Amino acid sequence: MKYTTNNVRNMFLNFFQEKKHTIVPGSQLVQNENSDLLFTNAGMNQFKTVFLGKKKYPFSKVTTVQKCLRTGGKHNDLNEVGYSNYHNTFFEMLGNFSFGEYSKKTAITYAWELLTHKKWFNIPQNKLFVTVYYTDEESYNIWKKKIKLPNEDIIKIYDKKNKKYESDNFWQMGDTGPCGPCTEIFFKKKKKKSYINDLQNKEICIEIWNIVFIQFNKIQKNSILPLPILSIDTGMGLERITSILQNVPSNYKIDFFDNIIKKINYKDHNNHFNNQSLYIIADHLRAIIFIIYEGIIPNNEGQGYILRKIIRRTLVHMKLIKYKKYFLYQLIPTIIQFIQPYEKKLIEKKTYIQSILQQEELQFKKILDQGVKKLLNELHQLNKKELDGNFVFYLYDTMGFPIDLTKSICHKKNIYINQNKLDKIILKNKKNIKNKKNKNCMIHITNLKLNNHFVGYKTKKIDTVINSIFVKNKPTKVIKENENGIIFIEKTPFFAESGGQIGDSGIIYKNGSSLFQVQDTQKFSNYIGHIGKLLSGIIKNNDIITAEINKKKRLCIQNNHTATHLLHAALILILNHKIEQRGSFINHEYIRFDFSYFKKIHKIDILNTEDIVNQYIQKNTVIMNNNMQFIQAKKEKYIYLKNKTYDSIVRTVNIGHFSREICKGTHANRTGDIGIFKIISYKRIAYGVVRIEALTGLHALKNIHDKYTQIYAIKKFLNINDNIIIPKINTVMQNYLNLKKNNEYLKQKIMFHKIKKIIAKKIKIKKINFICKKIDITQSKLVKKLIDQIKNMINTGIIILYYQKKEKYIFTSSVTKNIINKINAIQIIEIIKKNTNGSGGGKVELAECVGNNINNIFCILETIKHTIEKII
Ligand code: SER
Repeated sequence: MKYTTNNVRNMFLNFFQEKKHTIVPGSQLVQNENSDLLFTNAGMNQFKTVFLGKKKYPFSKVTTVQKCLRTGGKHNDLNEVGYSNYHNTFFEMLGNFSFGEYSKKTAITYAWELLTHKKWFNIPQNKLFVTVYYTDEESYNIWKKKIKLPNEDIIKIYDKKNKKYESDNFWQMGDTGPCGPCTEIFFKKKKKKSYINDLQNKEICIEIWNIVFIQFNKIQKNSILPLPILSIDTGMGLERITSILQNVPSNYKIDFFDNIIKKINYKDHNNHFNNQSLYIIADHLRAIIFIIYEGIIPNNEGQGYILRKIIRRTLVHMKLIKYKKYFLYQLIPTIIQFIQPYEKKLIEKKTYIQSILQQEELQFKKILDQGVKKLLNELHQLNKKELDGNFVFYLYDTMGFPIDLTKSICHKKNIYINQNKLDKIILKNKKNIKNKKNKNCMIHITNLKLNNHFVGYKTKKIDTVINSIFVKNKPTKVIKENENGIIFIEKTPFFAESGGQIGDSGIIYKNGSSLFQVQDTQKFSNYIGHIGKLLSGIIKNNDIITAEINKKKRLCIQNNHTATHLLHAALILILNHKIEQRGSFINHEYIRFDFSYFKKIHKIDILNTEDIVNQYIQKNTVIMNNNMQFIQAKKEKYIYLKNKTYDSIVRTVNIGHFSREICKGTHANRTGDIGIFKIISYKRIAYGVVRIEALTGLHALKNIHDKYTQIYAIKKFLNINDNIIIPKINTVMQNYLNLKKNNEYLKQKIMFHKIKKIIAKKIKIKKINFICKKIDITQSKLVKKLIDQIKNMINTGIIILYYQKKEKYIFTSSVTKNIINKINAIQIIEIIKKNTNGSGGGKVELAECVGNNINNIFCILETIKHTIEKII
């Protein structure tokens, strides 16, 4: 086949290479923490700063294949996937870019040539039409005069609801950033005179290529500034264009997906699967693989949250179609096999990806099973044909049970859910579900002067100016006493949470009378916001204030940060292994460090690591910082995070030659400041991921003191001195075990004695042994044991044992198996119940009851005996 997915990808790159474009790799899928995006959503993301003129790129014409994920924000296709034939969550975007190099005319001509020329995609010209932004006369005229499209094949697109730039033909990456008018090329699936009313109808036409003219920078809502140069950014979904070239009616029918879906939908199955669910499984699994591959683990925040959402959505669809042959994680090799030809490194992480997915899958499967049980139980008790939205939300909120699944189960059982009511309940609760990223974006940064910079590496206290104040997430000129708010200042010694290090706290004050307590410091977009409460006075915009961090706390934080670097370096040395940092958390009290390590970690490794860190603390080495080119730092083998993107100039932190990392965090002056370093726990938290928790300085000392206090208590208890604790505990334990053994032996002896005494009291009722005896054992388990042994010794018979518990008697009756057809334990217990006004029951060989009316126990027993006599 000429137009296989792999060929189409290569043809695109070759075409633009012939047009003197440089082929550069697409960026990572996972965006770094400073980005407004969680995942890359377009080929242009990596060139954002180049378009804005902030960065020079070594090439002025490039072409890329970009891994994209559209599951949130401005570009969210998650809910379309599977239901629309032409949407994928994860997809590959083919693009060509020019940074001030060529004109709109060149961009349009290139696109037309690739799509229609015989040598390339060879699509008949009359099968294509285009849209243009209504004010973009230049593009309109290029299509009309240069390409010679008929008038009806050039459609002008206006702003939606008359809001300027709110248009399908004005492309924006996010709420801010490079943007501009675009012209889109559509493929006609059905022949019509005019397509103007059918642009969204994918049965009639589909958009295949978007050519954006980056002419503006959106700095905030309603504020768009022109850029000095015109740049070109084009994007064409590989899966869509391939579907057209292969003449199939869906992205999911192209060779790539067709192969995968055939493998998932194994042939020997009788069920006719719902294709949509299969499409979702295939699409989502590809996304899942790439996200985990780039280091994300499912959790409840940011990227991890999206990953969890995609995994769970897939599992729900598997449940909906009752797909049972494979677990989701077992399908990974199948998908990787098809991605492998162009993403070679994926195979190396196959087992890792599988194990992360497996854990999440098994965990969610439990939720699904429990949720279904709860739901069915609720449906069973309903006395009308409607399920309350509050219950639907309760299942979702408390257990994470998906609303879609509740709906689908109810639908099958003809139970109605009022969607309006449910929407209201969800809306009411939505605030609580927002993830951290959203929390930080809740305020729209306006009025900010751009010089909001961090001076806290050296300075702990500074006089500066209030730039901006937010109260209740809205900009305001003043903040008054007792109000909570976020304050932005021109220069700040406060470090905003990042790279695992928590934000600083401290105070912002004025004239000794106005005092704002900073409880936390976070970044909002790229600005440092001081979150807290005005304890007294009033603070206004442009006030001169003093900003002062909590020095004592900061010192502890920075000591911990430096200790984390030492820990990282020591682990590399001791484990003799290429470990990679997977996450860290550093505050003033504690260090948490997660890293990849697949082998077993031994206690001795931990002790050695601790020793090395402490040796470096003792060396009292000065910590050095430097700014250098990222490329240079990489060359010099500085440690950096593989799934993070860095600016071209980075800050490096050196602790002698021992530890060299790229890091923006704050650090101790000398290693000696750390005092001591103590690892308090190490454990595996996921497949191939180990977590170490540690303390430094006085916190470490306190931990050691606590341990000593315990040891003192043990010594006092055992009445011994230091060096014999362990031998003494050994002896005590040995003595204890011996006594336990002796005790068991004695217990058995007593038991045997008791049994003998009981058996001695046996009488015969019609030749059958009959034992009825009060005992002094008061534990049901022991009574049963006793009965078993008596039965072994008498072979045939009826046994009734009873003991007194307060004002009641507890009876246990048992009958040997060989006579239960004559009389059984339940019958006997029924007689006892009747005569003692009791309650109880059991099985034919053994039954129990509690007797209440026991005043005349001898009479009762006689009656019981007579009744039994009558029965047998
Ligand atoms: N940025 C545009 C898009 O994503 C073109 O690449 O559609």
